[in-house]
This record gives sequence, structure tokens and C-alpha cells, in this order.
Amino acid sequence: MHALEKAWIAIGITALAVFLIILGYAGFKDGLHPAGGLRTIDPTKVSQTPPFDKPGLVTNADGTYDVNIVAQAFSFSPSKIQIPVNKTVHFNITSKDIVHSFTIVKTNVNMEIVPGNINEKSYTFKETGDYLVICNEYCGAGHQLMKMDIEVVK
Ligand code: CUA
Repeated sequence: MHALEKAWIAIGITALAVFLIILGYAGFKDGLHPAGGLRTIDPTKVSQTPPFDKPGLVTNADGTYDVNIVAQAFSFSPSKIQIPVNKTVHFNITSKDIVHSFTIVKTNVNMEIVPGNINEKSYTFKETGDYLVICNEYCGAGHQLMKMDIEVVK
């Protein structure tokens, strides 16, 4: 092998090693983790696992709300929900089958729903009205029918 080829291979390997070391160091230093959180669930037992055995709105003792939602091809459960305006709502969502998304139109709530994970996001609705939730992750023949309605009320 030509000496220059050897030199370039060495430079390439060194650059890759430096890149991986920097990436690994930054990841561990900042405690990076999957965007949805670290809580997991057995996707085959979603209907038996609290809180997803009773999907819907839950009022917490501190005045905040939890909304527990199950996604599956091609629906969300519950399919319609009422949420009070100007209250912090914590969405916990999981999937029974494949990857979906939970996208509340006209907000910055846009999560991938990964089976086996409990995907989380807090949000406060500032205005009353009807909000449409869609799935923007292609999940099969009924993907375009997969939606949920949120009514934000006083
Ligand atoms: Cu669920 Cu597309």
C-alpha cells in the first residue's frame, strides 16, 4: 500500500474516533435521553397497565391534569376529550402496535408515539376552542383517518 493511502486511512480513523469521543462525552455530560422520556411499558399489555387501562383526563392534587392516551392503528383512545383552559396538561401517550404521532394542530405539540415507551409532553392551552390532533407518521391504509378532537373549555 502506498504511504499516502496509509496516511489518509489513519487520518480518517482518527477523525472518526475524535468525532465519536466528542459526541459520547457531550451526550453523557448533558444526560441526553430519548425525547419522549425514559418510562417504558410492555406494548402487548397496554390495556391492562395503569394508567392506560382507563385512558382519559385525570385531575391531580396540585391542580394540574394528566391526559393518558392510547394510540393504535388507526385511532386514539379516547377519541374526544375536554381540557380546561390555562391549566398545565401533561400528556402521557403510548402505542399498542406501531409508531404513530400525536400532533396537535396549531400548537408546538408534535410527538412520535413509540410502542414500548411512554411518550410525554406538558402543554397549557391559552385559548378555548376545538383543536384537531392528527397522526403525521404514516402507519398504514387508515393513516389519514387517525385523529382525535380536543375541546378546550373554561
Ligand atoms: Cu397513526 Cu399515521
